[in-house]
Amino acid sequence: MALKQAQRGNVSSFLVMDVMRAAAEIEATGKGVLHLEVGQPGFQAPKGARLAAARALEEDTLGYTDAVGRPALRARIAEQYSEAYAVDVTPERISVTTGSSAGFLLAFLACFEAGDRVALADPSYPCYRNILKALDIETVPIPVGPETRYQPTPEHLEALGEIDGVVVASPSNPTGAMFAPGELGRLARWCHSKGVRLISDEIYHGLTYEQTAETAANSSSAIVINSFSKYYAMTGWRIGWMVLPEDLIEPINKLAQNFFISPPAISQVAALASFDCREELEANKSIYARNRKVLLEALTDRGLQPAAPPDGAFYIYVDASPLSNDSLSLCKSMLDEIGVAATSGLDFQPINGNRYIRFSFCASESDVAEAARRIRTWRT
Ligand SMILES: Cc1ncc(COP(=O)(O)O)c(C=O)c1O
Repeated sequence: MALKQAQRGNVSSFLVMDVMRAAAEIEATGKGVLHLEVGQPGFQAPKGARLAAARALEEDTLGYTDAVGRPALRARIAEQYSEAYAVDVTPERISVTTGSSAGFLLAFLACFEAGDRVALADPSYPCYRNILKALDIETVPIPVGPETRYQPTPEHLEALGEIDGVVVASPSNPTGAMFAPGELGRLARWCHSKGVRLISDEIYHGLTYEQTAETAANSSSAIVINSFSKYYAMTGWRIGWMVLPEDLIEPINKLAQNFFISPPAISQVAALASFDCREELEANKSIYARNRKVLLEALTDRGLQPAAPPDGAFYIYVDASPLSNDSLSLCKSMLDEIGVAATSGLDFQPINGNRYIRFSFCASESDVAEAARRIRTWRT
Protein backbone atom coordinates (compact mmCIF):
# COMPACT_ATOMS: atom_id res chain seq x y z
CA MET A 1 0.00 0.00 0.00
CA ALA A 2 1.34 3.42 -0.91
CA LEU A 3 2.15 5.39 2.20
CA LYS A 4 0.93 8.91 2.60
CA GLN A 5 3.27 11.62 1.31
CA ALA A 6 2.77 15.36 1.54
CA GLN A 7 2.60 17.45 -1.62
CA ARG A 8 5.02 19.78 0.18
CA GLY A 9 7.97 17.75 -1.11
CA ASN A 10 6.77 18.13 -4.66
CA VAL A 11 8.87 21.20 -5.48
CA SER A 12 11.12 21.69 -8.51
CA SER A 13 14.72 20.58 -8.40
CA PHE A 14 17.46 22.68 -9.91
CA LEU A 15 18.31 22.12 -13.58
CA VAL A 16 21.80 23.30 -12.68
CA MET A 17 22.19 20.04 -10.76
CA ASP A 18 21.80 18.20 -14.08
CA VAL A 19 24.54 20.40 -15.56
CA MET A 20 26.77 19.62 -12.59
CA ARG A 21 26.11 15.88 -12.98
CA ALA A 22 26.93 16.03 -16.73
CA ALA A 23 30.10 18.00 -15.90
CA ALA A 24 31.12 15.38 -13.33
CA GLU A 25 30.67 12.62 -15.94
CA ILE A 26 32.97 14.48 -18.33
CA GLU A 27 35.49 15.02 -15.54
CA ALA A 28 35.40 11.29 -14.73
CA THR A 29 36.74 10.62 -18.25
CA GLY A 30 39.79 12.75 -17.38
CA LYS A 31 38.71 15.88 -19.30
CA GLY A 32 38.63 19.20 -17.48
CA VAL A 33 35.48 21.32 -17.11
CA LEU A 34 35.41 25.05 -16.41
CA HIS A 35 32.68 25.65 -13.83
CA LEU A 36 30.77 28.80 -14.66
CA GLU A 37 27.50 27.25 -13.50
CA VAL A 38 28.04 27.44 -9.75
CA GLY A 39 27.21 30.36 -7.49
CA GLN A 40 29.76 29.83 -4.77
CA PRO A 41 33.11 31.56 -4.26
CA GLY A 42 36.17 29.58 -5.29
CA PHE A 43 37.92 30.97 -2.17
CA GLN A 44 38.23 29.48 1.30
CA ALA A 45 36.75 31.32 4.25
CA PRO A 46 39.14 34.14 5.18
CA LYS A 47 42.21 33.11 7.15
CA GLY A 48 41.25 34.95 10.33
CA ALA A 49 37.91 33.13 10.38
CA ARG A 50 39.56 29.73 9.94
CA LEU A 51 42.07 30.45 12.70
CA ALA A 52 39.33 31.56 15.09
CA ALA A 53 37.40 28.36 14.35
CA ALA A 54 40.51 26.22 14.93
CA ARG A 55 41.08 27.94 18.28
CA ALA A 56 37.45 27.45 19.25
CA LEU A 57 37.73 23.70 18.55
CA GLU A 58 40.28 23.52 21.36
CA GLU A 59 38.97 26.11 23.78
CA ASP A 60 35.21 26.44 23.38
CA THR A 61 32.49 23.92 24.28
CA LEU A 62 30.70 24.86 21.06
CA GLY A 63 27.33 23.81 22.42
CA TYR A 64 23.96 25.26 21.54
CA THR A 65 23.85 29.03 21.55
CA ASP A 66 20.97 31.42 21.96
CA ALA A 67 18.43 30.59 19.20
CA VAL A 68 19.07 33.94 17.52
CA GLY A 69 22.85 33.80 17.90
CA ARG A 70 25.64 34.74 20.31
CA PRO A 71 25.36 38.29 21.69
CA ALA A 72 28.85 39.29 20.46
CA LEU A 73 28.05 38.31 16.88
CA ARG A 74 24.66 40.04 16.95
CA ALA A 75 26.30 43.18 18.28
CA ARG A 76 29.02 43.10 15.61
CA ILE A 77 26.47 42.60 12.82
CA ALA A 78 24.41 45.52 14.18
CA GLU A 79 27.54 47.70 14.20
CA GLN A 80 28.11 46.85 10.54
CA TYR A 81 24.88 48.69 9.65
CA SER A 82 26.15 51.98 11.02
CA GLU A 83 29.59 51.45 9.43
CA ALA A 84 28.44 50.40 5.97
CA TYR A 85 25.10 52.18 5.55
CA ALA A 86 24.90 54.78 8.35
CA VAL A 87 21.73 53.05 9.58
CA ASP A 88 21.14 52.51 13.31
CA VAL A 89 20.20 48.91 14.08
CA THR A 90 20.00 47.55 17.64
CA PRO A 91 21.49 44.08 18.31
CA GLU A 92 18.01 42.95 19.45
CA ARG A 93 16.84 43.22 15.86
CA ILE A 94 19.54 40.82 14.62
CA SER A 95 18.71 37.14 14.35
CA VAL A 96 21.60 34.87 13.33
CA THR A 97 20.44 32.03 11.09
CA THR A 98 21.69 28.81 9.52
CA GLY A 99 22.54 30.51 6.24
CA SER A 100 20.14 32.93 4.61
CA SER A 101 18.16 29.85 3.53
CA ALA A 102 16.96 29.35 7.12
CA GLY A 103 16.23 33.09 7.21
CA PHE A 104 13.81 32.72 4.31
CA LEU A 105 12.01 29.82 5.94
CA LEU A 106 11.65 31.72 9.23
CA ALA A 107 10.62 34.94 7.52
CA PHE A 108 7.97 33.26 5.36
CA LEU A 109 6.64 31.26 8.33
CA ALA A 110 6.44 34.36 10.51
CA CYS A 111 4.84 36.62 7.88
CA PHE A 112 2.49 34.61 5.70
CA GLU A 113 -0.41 32.18 5.98
CA ALA A 114 -1.11 29.38 3.52
CA GLY A 115 -2.93 30.90 0.55
CA ASP A 116 -1.30 34.34 0.88
CA ARG A 117 0.17 35.91 -2.26
CA VAL A 118 3.84 36.85 -2.44
CA ALA A 119 5.36 38.61 -5.45
CA LEU A 120 8.75 37.72 -6.92
CA ALA A 121 10.68 39.24 -9.80
CA ASP A 122 10.72 37.07 -12.89
CA PRO A 123 13.63 36.05 -13.08
CA SER A 124 14.70 35.42 -9.50
CA TYR A 125 16.48 32.93 -7.25
CA PRO A 126 14.44 29.69 -7.51
CA CYS A 127 14.43 28.79 -3.79
CA TYR A 128 12.14 31.74 -2.95
CA ARG A 129 9.49 30.22 -5.20
CA ASN A 130 10.09 26.67 -4.01
CA ILE A 131 10.11 27.42 -0.27
CA LEU A 132 6.92 29.49 -0.65
CA LYS A 133 5.30 26.68 -2.63
CA ALA A 134 6.20 24.12 0.05
CA LEU A 135 4.40 26.38 2.55
CA ASP A 136 1.31 26.62 0.32
CA ILE A 137 1.91 30.31 -0.31
CA GLU A 138 1.04 31.50 -3.79
CA THR A 139 3.81 33.18 -5.77
CA VAL A 140 3.00 36.00 -8.16
CA PRO A 141 5.62 36.69 -10.86
CA ILE A 142 6.55 40.34 -11.48
CA PRO A 143 7.33 40.89 -15.18
CA VAL A 144 10.47 43.00 -14.71
CA GLY A 145 12.66 44.14 -17.60
CA PRO A 146 15.55 46.37 -18.60
CA GLU A 147 13.58 49.61 -18.11
CA THR A 148 13.70 49.07 -14.30
CA ARG A 149 17.04 47.22 -14.18
CA TYR A 150 15.10 43.97 -13.71
CA GLN A 151 13.92 45.18 -10.29
CA PRO A 152 10.29 45.62 -9.19
CA THR A 153 8.75 49.05 -8.65
CA PRO A 154 5.62 50.20 -6.78
CA GLU A 155 3.98 50.53 -10.23
CA HIS A 156 4.64 46.84 -10.95
CA LEU A 157 3.18 45.88 -7.57
CA GLU A 158 0.10 48.10 -8.03
CA ALA A 159 -0.66 46.14 -11.20
CA LEU A 160 -0.66 42.77 -9.40
CA GLY A 161 -3.81 43.30 -7.33
CA GLU A 162 -3.87 42.23 -3.67
CA ILE A 163 -0.51 40.91 -2.47
CA ASP A 164 0.73 40.12 1.04
CA GLY A 165 4.46 40.32 0.47
CA VAL A 166 7.29 40.81 -1.99
CA VAL A 167 10.82 39.40 -2.04
CA VAL A 168 13.56 41.45 -3.73
CA ALA A 169 17.31 40.99 -4.18
CA SER A 170 19.74 43.75 -5.17
CA PRO A 171 22.21 42.71 -6.53
CA SER A 172 20.04 39.94 -7.90
CA ASN A 173 20.66 36.34 -8.73
CA PRO A 174 20.61 35.57 -11.68
CA THR A 175 21.02 39.03 -13.24
CA GLY A 176 23.46 40.82 -10.91
CA ALA A 177 21.32 43.93 -11.53
CA MET A 178 20.69 46.45 -8.76
CA PHE A 179 18.00 48.98 -7.93
CA ALA A 180 18.82 52.48 -9.17
CA PRO A 181 19.73 54.75 -6.21
CA GLY A 182 16.67 55.55 -4.09
CA GLU A 183 14.44 52.90 -5.68
CA LEU A 184 14.65 50.32 -2.87
CA GLY A 185 13.65 53.05 -0.40
CA ARG A 186 10.73 54.07 -2.62
CA LEU A 187 9.58 50.44 -2.81
CA ALA A 188 9.97 50.01 0.98
CA ARG A 189 7.84 53.11 1.65
CA TRP A 190 5.16 51.89 -0.77
CA CYS A 191 5.12 48.44 0.90
CA HIS A 192 4.90 49.98 4.37
CA SER A 193 2.01 52.24 3.40
CA LYS A 194 0.08 49.37 1.78
CA GLY A 195 0.70 46.78 4.51
CA VAL A 196 2.76 44.61 2.16
CA ARG A 197 5.68 42.82 3.86
CA LEU A 198 8.96 43.54 2.07
CA ILE A 199 11.70 40.93 2.33
CA SER A 200 15.02 42.23 1.04
CA ASP A 201 17.64 39.60 0.23
CA GLU A 202 20.95 41.46 0.62
CA ILE A 203 23.21 38.41 0.33
CA TYR A 204 25.30 39.94 -2.49
CA HIS A 205 26.02 43.20 -0.68
CA GLY A 206 29.74 43.89 -0.67
CA LEU A 207 30.06 42.45 -4.17
CA THR A 208 29.15 45.47 -6.25
CA TYR A 209 31.18 46.95 -9.10
CA GLU A 210 29.37 50.10 -10.24
CA GLN A 211 27.52 51.57 -7.25
CA THR A 212 27.15 50.63 -3.57
CA ALA A 213 24.06 48.74 -2.49
CA GLU A 214 21.33 50.28 -0.34
CA THR A 215 19.75 48.40 2.54
CA ALA A 216 16.10 48.11 3.56
CA ALA A 217 17.15 47.91 7.24
CA ASN A 218 15.94 51.49 7.82
CA SER A 219 12.34 50.50 7.06
CA SER A 220 10.29 49.78 10.17
CA SER A 221 8.38 46.91 8.56
CA ALA A 222 10.82 45.22 6.12
CA ILE A 223 12.88 42.11 6.85
CA VAL A 224 16.48 42.13 5.65
CA ILE A 225 18.11 38.79 4.98
CA ASN A 226 21.87 38.42 4.58
CA SER A 227 24.56 35.77 4.81
CA PHE A 228 28.24 35.05 5.22
CA SER A 229 28.08 32.79 2.12
CA LYS A 230 29.04 35.18 -0.68
CA TYR A 231 31.18 38.26 0.19
CA TYR A 232 32.63 36.41 3.18
CA ALA A 233 33.15 33.19 1.11
CA MET A 234 31.68 30.92 3.80
CA THR A 235 29.00 28.90 1.96
CA GLY A 236 29.48 25.57 3.75
CA TRP A 237 29.61 27.17 7.19
CA ARG A 238 25.86 27.73 6.91
CA ILE A 239 25.65 31.04 8.66
CA GLY A 240 23.62 34.15 7.90
CA TRP A 241 21.43 36.74 9.60
CA MET A 242 18.24 38.75 9.48
CA VAL A 243 17.49 42.30 10.51
CA LEU A 244 13.97 42.19 11.89
CA PRO A 245 11.32 44.84 12.40
CA GLU A 246 10.30 45.12 16.06
CA ASP A 247 6.99 43.24 15.60
CA LEU A 248 8.75 40.11 14.33
CA ILE A 249 11.53 39.79 16.93
CA GLU A 250 9.48 37.60 19.28
CA PRO A 251 7.73 35.37 16.69
CA ILE A 252 11.02 34.71 14.86
CA ASN A 253 12.79 33.97 18.15
CA LYS A 254 10.16 31.34 19.01
CA LEU A 255 10.16 29.80 15.53
CA ALA A 256 13.99 29.69 15.48
CA GLN A 257 14.07 27.95 18.89
CA ASN A 258 11.67 25.27 17.69
CA PHE A 259 12.96 24.74 14.16
CA PHE A 260 16.72 24.96 14.69
CA ILE A 261 17.53 25.33 18.44
CA SER A 262 20.51 27.44 17.37
CA PRO A 263 22.71 28.24 14.40
CA PRO A 264 26.05 26.34 14.36
CA ALA A 265 28.32 27.58 17.17
CA ILE A 266 31.64 27.16 15.36
CA SER A 267 30.35 29.08 12.37
CA GLN A 268 29.31 31.93 14.63
CA VAL A 269 32.87 32.14 15.96
CA ALA A 270 34.28 32.17 12.42
CA ALA A 271 31.68 34.69 11.24
CA LEU A 272 32.57 37.13 14.02
CA ALA A 273 36.26 36.91 13.10
CA SER A 274 35.49 37.41 9.39
CA PHE A 275 34.62 41.06 10.06
CA ASP A 276 38.33 41.64 10.73
CA CYS A 277 39.40 40.11 7.40
CA ARG A 278 38.46 43.05 5.18
CA GLU A 279 41.77 43.12 3.30
CA GLU A 280 41.53 39.48 2.19
CA LEU A 281 37.85 39.83 1.29
CA GLU A 282 38.50 42.98 -0.76
CA ALA A 283 41.34 41.15 -2.55
CA ASN A 284 38.86 38.37 -3.46
CA LYS A 285 36.50 41.01 -4.74
CA SER A 286 39.13 42.54 -7.02
CA ILE A 287 39.60 39.10 -8.60
CA TYR A 288 35.83 38.90 -9.24
CA ALA A 289 36.03 42.37 -10.79
CA ARG A 290 38.79 41.26 -13.18
CA ASN A 291 36.90 38.03 -14.02
CA ARG A 292 33.77 40.05 -14.71
CA LYS A 293 35.58 42.28 -17.20
CA VAL A 294 37.22 39.38 -19.06
CA LEU A 295 34.03 37.33 -19.28
CA LEU A 296 31.85 40.29 -20.23
CA GLU A 297 34.17 41.14 -23.14
CA ALA A 298 34.21 37.55 -24.42
CA LEU A 299 30.43 37.12 -24.20
CA THR A 300 29.76 40.44 -25.92
CA ASP A 301 32.27 39.59 -28.67
CA ARG A 302 30.39 36.34 -29.23
CA GLY A 303 27.08 38.23 -29.59
CA LEU A 304 25.85 37.29 -26.13
CA GLN A 305 24.74 40.61 -24.63
CA PRO A 306 23.89 40.89 -20.94
CA ALA A 307 20.10 41.02 -20.63
CA ALA A 308 20.50 43.08 -17.44
CA PRO A 309 23.32 45.31 -16.18
CA PRO A 310 25.70 43.01 -14.21
CA ASP A 311 26.17 45.58 -11.42
CA GLY A 312 27.00 43.14 -8.66
CA ALA A 313 27.10 39.54 -7.35
CA PHE A 314 29.13 37.28 -9.64
CA TYR A 315 26.75 36.61 -12.49
CA ILE A 316 26.14 37.73 -16.06
CA TYR A 317 22.69 36.88 -17.43
CA VAL A 318 22.87 36.90 -21.20
CA ASP A 319 20.30 36.82 -23.94
CA ALA A 320 21.33 33.66 -25.81
CA SER A 321 18.83 34.11 -28.64
CA PRO A 322 21.47 35.17 -31.24
CA LEU A 323 22.78 31.58 -30.91
CA SER A 324 19.64 29.65 -29.95
CA ASN A 325 16.22 29.95 -28.35
CA ASP A 326 16.83 26.72 -26.49
CA SER A 327 19.40 27.64 -23.87
CA LEU A 328 19.12 24.25 -22.18
CA SER A 329 20.43 22.51 -25.32
CA LEU A 330 22.91 25.32 -25.92
CA CYS A 331 24.36 24.85 -22.40
CA LYS A 332 24.64 21.13 -23.10
CA SER A 333 26.51 21.69 -26.39
CA MET A 334 28.79 24.25 -24.74
CA LEU A 335 29.67 21.73 -22.06
CA ASP A 336 30.22 18.87 -24.52
CA GLU A 337 32.12 20.89 -27.13
CA ILE A 338 34.25 23.36 -25.16
CA GLY A 339 33.99 22.08 -21.58
CA VAL A 340 32.35 25.24 -20.21
CA ALA A 341 29.45 24.66 -17.80
CA ALA A 342 26.77 27.39 -17.40
CA THR A 343 23.13 27.47 -16.28
CA SER A 344 20.03 27.81 -18.44
CA GLY A 345 17.71 30.69 -17.53
CA LEU A 346 14.95 28.09 -17.07
CA ASP A 347 16.11 27.64 -13.47
CA PHE A 348 15.25 31.26 -12.74
CA GLN A 349 12.22 31.82 -14.97
CA PRO A 350 10.41 28.58 -15.79
CA ILE A 351 8.23 30.17 -18.50
CA ASN A 352 10.53 32.51 -20.43
CA GLY A 353 13.96 31.40 -19.29
CA ASN A 354 14.93 29.23 -22.24
CA ARG A 355 16.25 32.31 -24.02
CA TYR A 356 18.79 33.13 -21.33
CA ILE A 357 21.97 31.72 -19.79
CA ARG A 358 23.54 32.61 -16.47
CA PHE A 359 27.33 32.66 -16.40
CA SER A 360 29.00 32.83 -13.01
CA PHE A 361 32.46 34.37 -12.64
CA CYS A 362 33.42 33.34 -9.10
CA ALA A 363 35.76 30.54 -10.31
CA SER A 364 39.54 31.11 -10.30
CA GLU A 365 41.01 33.84 -12.48
CA SER A 366 42.74 31.28 -14.73
CA ASP A 367 39.55 29.23 -15.19
CA VAL A 368 37.48 32.28 -16.08
CA ALA A 369 40.17 33.52 -18.52
CA GLU A 370 40.32 30.10 -20.21
CA ALA A 371 36.50 29.88 -20.38
CA ALA A 372 36.44 33.36 -21.96
CA ARG A 373 39.01 32.26 -24.56
CA ARG A 374 37.00 29.13 -25.45
CA ILE A 375 33.68 31.03 -25.66
CA ARG A 376 35.27 33.57 -28.03
CA THR A 377 36.43 30.90 -30.45
CA TRP A 378 33.43 28.54 -30.09
CA ARG A 379 31.65 28.01 -33.40
CA THR A 380 28.35 26.42 -32.53
C1 LIG B 1 20.01 35.29 -4.04
C2 LIG B 1 20.38 34.22 -3.08
N1 LIG B 1 19.80 34.21 -1.87
C3 LIG B 1 20.08 33.24 -0.98
C4 LIG B 1 20.97 32.21 -1.27
C5 LIG B 1 21.22 31.14 -0.23
O1 LIG B 1 22.42 31.32 0.43
P1 LIG B 1 22.84 30.74 1.87
O2 LIG B 1 21.74 29.89 2.38
O3 LIG B 1 24.11 30.00 1.62
O4 LIG B 1 23.05 31.95 2.72
C6 LIG B 1 21.61 32.19 -2.51
C7 LIG B 1 22.55 31.11 -2.86
O5 LIG B 1 23.04 31.00 -3.95
C8 LIG B 1 21.31 33.22 -3.44
O6 LIG B 1 21.87 33.28 -4.65
